[in-house]
Amino acid sequence: MSNVKSDPASIRKALVTGSSRGIGLSIAKVLASHGVDICITGRNFESLLKAKRQILDYAQPHCDTPECGLVFPIQVDLGLPETPAILMDKTIESLGSLDLLVNNAGISLSTPLEETTIEQWNTIMAINARAPYFLCKQALPYLRNSFSPTIVQIASVVAYEGYVDQSAYTASKHALLGFTKSLAKEVHEDGIRIHTISPGGVATDMIGAVRPDIDTSALIDPDEIAQMVWFLVSHRGNAMVDHVAIHRSSKLPWT
Ligand SMILES: NC(=O)c1ccc[n+]([C@@H]2O[C@H](COP(=O)([O-])OP(=O)(O)OC[C@H]3O[C@@H](n4cnc5c(N)ncnc54)[C@H](OP(=O)(O)O)[C@@H]3O)[C@@H](O)[C@H]2O)c1
Repeated sequence: MSNVKSDPASIRKALVTGSSRGIGLSIAKVLASHGVDICITGRNFESLLKAKRQILDYAQPHCDTPECGLVFPIQVDLGLPETPAILMDKTIESLGSLDLLVNNAGISLSTPLEETTIEQWNTIMAINARAPYFLCKQALPYLRNSFSPTIVQIASVVAYEGYVDQSAYTASKHALLGFTKSLAKEVHEDGIRIHTISPGGVATDMIGAVRPDIDTSALIDPDEIAQMVWFLVSHRGNAMVDHVAIHRSSKLPWT
């Protein structure tokens, strides 16, 4: 007798940050193809309009619900302290409610510690750690009204390891994973599930800038991350996955 309460239909409204390209765009495509209405975000409105077209072009032929999800572009800079509150207001204006927050937006930095400036440190901490922290805070009142309240954090392998010349990026992702461990316990009684995904090299603009040495054919496809997000958010049985570490299949396991 199966005890799995898998009800994909219960995730209806989602906010995915950093969804104008890369991993966030793939996540948005997959969500829309399952009928989820989504707010997509980025700093450039033209890129968001292009992303919206790409999401609908993907979702319409792949849709497994009577209609694919609606897509609402929201232009924001997550480096600003006021953005999480403004973004949540705009999200609720567009969607009316919220079942899923995906904190995906992020930037990386490949610079030795001795050459890293205070401005670079502040910017990366603001986008990768502060923004997701306060977006979680803003989302909680709405998630408490959802039947399947869920948060997905897109962290990184550097959320639990340290790579040379990536000390600021590593600190920001450790901060993301750190506050998530605490928050997941704080909201456990509310039924809010928080899944953290920590990928290695994914084929996006970001990895090209930080690790041009990696053979691009060996990189993880962003669609693979998106499918894992859907698997996690659409399975609400008694099994719960807190953290998923994903590495390139060409990399030695357990390293
Ligand atoms: N690619 C990898 O190998 C890899 C591996 C592990 C973890 N990750 C993590 O996965 C997430 C997505 O990475 P990605 O590779 O898909 O990156 P990407 O292709 O560079 O996309 C980043 C997204 O975030 C948005 N963004 C960046 N800065 C922003 C800001 N200040 N305000 C609002 N939006 C902003 C970008 O839009 P705009 O530039 O238009 O604002 C874009 O939509 C990040 O958190 C990253 O750390 C990536």
